[in-house]
Amino acid sequence: MVASSNFLLFSASLFFFIVSPSIQASFRPKALLLPVSKDASTLQYLTQIKQRTPLVPIKLTLDLGGEYLWVDCDQGYVSSSYKPARCNSAQCNLARSKACGSCFDGPKPGCNNNTCSLLPSNSVKNSGTIGEVAQDVVSIQSTNGKNPGKEVTVSKFLFTCGSSFLLDGLAGGVKGMAGLGRTKISMPSQFAAAFSFPRKFAVCLSSSSGSNGVVIFGDGPYNLLPDIDVSKSLMYTPLILNRVSTSSASFQGDPSADYFIGVNGITINTKPVSFNKTLLSINKEGQGGTKISTVTPYTVMQTSIYRAVVNAFIKQTSKVARVPAVAPFSACYNAKSLGSTRVGPAVPQIDLLLPNKVVWRIFGANSMVQVNKDVLCLGFVDGGLEPTTSIVIGGHQIEDNLLQIDLAASKLGFSSSLLFRRTTCSNFNFTSTA
Ligand SMILES: *[C@@H]1O[C@H](CO)[C@@H](O)[C@H](O)[C@H]1NC(C)=O
Ligand SMILES: *[C@@H]1O[C@H](CO)[C@@H](O)[C@H](O)[C@H]1NC(C)=O
Ligand SMILES: *[C@@H]1O[C@H](CO)[C@@H](O)[C@H](O)[C@H]1NC(C)=O
Repeated sequence: MVASSNFLLFSASLFFFIVSPSIQASFRPKALLLPVSKDASTLQYLTQIKQRTPLVPIKLTLDLGGEYLWVDCDQGYVSSSYKPARCNSAQCNLARSKACGSCFDGPKPGCNNNTCSLLPSNSVKNSGTIGEVAQDVVSIQSTNGKNPGKEVTVSKFLFTCGSSFLLDGLAGGVKGMAGLGRTKISMPSQFAAAFSFPRKFAVCLSSSSGSNGVVIFGDGPYNLLPDIDVSKSLMYTPLILNRVSTSSASFQGDPSADYFIGVNGITINTKPVSFNKTLLSINKEGQGGTKISTVTPYTVMQTSIYRAVVNAFIKQTSKVARVPAVAPFSACYNAKSLGSTRVGPAVPQIDLLLPNKVVWRIFGANSMVQVNKDVLCLGFVDGGLEPTTSIVIGGHQIEDNLLQIDLAASKLGFSSSLLFRRTTCSNFNFTSTA
């Protein structure tokens, strides 16, 4: 069952409640930690939380723009503390659910009467379904920003039940998606509410599938070996709200949970790349603009932007011989003919121009992809003529960069390449001090 974007509202509540997130906590850490690994075959970033009673580890695909945590409730969901959210409850209101329904196959997790529903989506496959909103126990490691500390639990963590088919396209062993998006029930919002810490979180993705990166919920320090607090040296740019959902399944009127930024131009070796700038703004239908995604392995650009960027890049590297393209990339080079620097292959820097003269500079380590032993390609992909979002900054471009999302101030902090500072996202010290 796949819900269309204008899903029929079969029950909408007009009642308003005073919402108190019914979340309880055992003690108050200042920040929480999730290790993040890179799956070599799907290029997805994976993490794990403990959920249910008794607690079991649940493997999840990380989704920066995902609306909330969803897990497969069809198979293997066993828990004595599972509780569905009853229609018109404070939980349903916080979740902004517009659907209330019954289920004739239960009662069991994911199938209960008089419960509200949301439309969980698999942003890798662009599939979606309708699923029961529920709460259960979640357990996660705390951190002081330097090491992992003791585990803490949230007894009533809200999530949505997905279905087994919704796992299609996700990495092996994965049971759902960890949504870090712009909603009141996303994982960062619920953790911040549960422990009364700032509504901020950081994502630092490792470029290697052999060593873990991190997500840290809460404010800095965000320490990476050798004792570098990355939170102290971030550049900032406002986050932009897209008022139209960019999810594969949504209720009419839902805003997007994705994090958009105001890229207003691109330069290569500081030379402006010329293309139709209208594509960089978000129109009334929610199309256009630039967002950041952890489920897109390589930055995807609308065709005309893509062509302009690739051509400008080729022009700036005209002295280096190109080799036959390796799909899905088009500008490829012999690795030996490009020099190397601390921040990767010596190629023209690509700048994303942001408001107030702020620049997101992309160096070789983030622009070039090693497709085989000898060949490096410009790691951008053609998104077609009419993608929903004109530029989707993907995983490869944010690896070994620390991104901090400040939900309260609606701004993005970014470090640029950590390689300049002789560290990487795999340099968090995972030695527990609990
Ligand atoms: C829901 O209510 C219907 C009608 O009263 C009943 O037949 C069904 O078994 C109930 N389902 C659950 C999951 O309780
Ligand atoms: C620029 O793109 C917009 C949005 O796709 C389109 O409506 C407009 O006609 C384009 N302008 C030019 C000059 O191509
Ligand atoms: C990692 O943290 C532990 C615990 O604080 C500390 O003993 C150890 O020296 C740290 N490792 C490095 C490489 O600094």
